[in-house]
Amino acid sequence: MATRTMGVGRKRSSAAHLPLGERGDGRFYGQHILSVAQFARTDLEYIFAVAEEMRLMVERVGTFDLLKGKILASLFYEPSTRTSSSFTAAMERLGGSVIPISEVKYSSVAKGESLPDTVRTLECYSDVIVLRHPETGAAATAARYARKPIINAGDGTGEHPTQALLDLFTIREELGRLEGLTVTMLGDLKYGRTVHSLSRLLALYGAKLNYVSPEILRMPPYIVEELGKFGVEQKEYTTLDPVLAETDVLYVTRVQKERFEDLKVYESVKGAFVITPETLKNAKQDMVLMHPLPRVGEISMDVDSDPRAAYFRQMEYGLYVRMALLAMVLGKA
Ligand code: CP
Repeated sequence: MATRTMGVGRKRSSAAHLPLGERGDGRFYGQHILSVAQFARTDLEYIFAVAEEMRLMVERVGTFDLLKGKILASLFYEPSTRTSSSFTAAMERLGGSVIPISEVKYSSVAKGESLPDTVRTLECYSDVIVLRHPETGAAATAARYARKPIINAGDGTGEHPTQALLDLFTIREELGRLEGLTVTMLGDLKYGRTVHSLSRLLALYGAKLNYVSPEILRMPPYIVEELGKFGVEQKEYTTLDPVLAETDVLYVTRVQKERFEDLKVYESVKGAFVITPETLKNAKQDMVLMHPLPRVGEISMDVDSDPRAAYFRQMEYGLYVRMALLAMVLGKA
């Protein structure tokens, strides 16, 4: 009887367990992408360099065969337009294919299947799993059971690491630098997982962070404390006026209706901030205005034609960053 050295019955959590001939040499090969905490500056520079390559390749040839034969399982327990479609586009631009499960109510999740069992199922058919889930820590839970890389596409109010990577890439592309910027985060900082992740990455580059929010939507104290230990300068405000003129990047977020238990509380804060052309009169001429989107009124559509409005370009940058991440975790970057 033949001996199985790497059968499907054996748990594998990293490339180190693969036979030598199947190992890739690249950074992040076979690894999960769960939190921005796993990235050092050298990792970020590497990801951005690969993303630049991806951008050039898309511009030159559109689609190419780097991940031909590879399959992505796209598992979304929460709604998404950008993250789900950009991961799908990324995989298809790289010549791979996608199992899309964006309506979990039509999957066996609706029959009560657990997250670990759903992940164990999908990894039988795919090489990497992108997961969005309403519970903080769900991606880490999935990773404990998975033999294939899990990419966190947003876990409740926890993190959204791939968004933070594309946000940082956007700033780098728009301003040409990342070091020592004044970044103002505005809106729902309590529930906004994008700002939880982005603030941690910006801390690596000596950013000064301003947090502007309604009182009940302040940046969680655990993040303020965590960054404070690294000496990050952070200040909190309830209005934008005091900090707009010094701001290099204004990062606006949506007040997230779906996170509120009491809709009356949501109604009391939903229109707290609206960026208009009038607002931008007091901003730097080269300020970058970002939003992870979707927006629900926080940035007036009249602002869209302002050259500082980077939120549509930001979405496109996301494609290149996600192509880079897929290529890296699958050992092809
Ligand atoms: N920025 C973002 O995560 O958008 P989606 O919810 O549309 O994926």
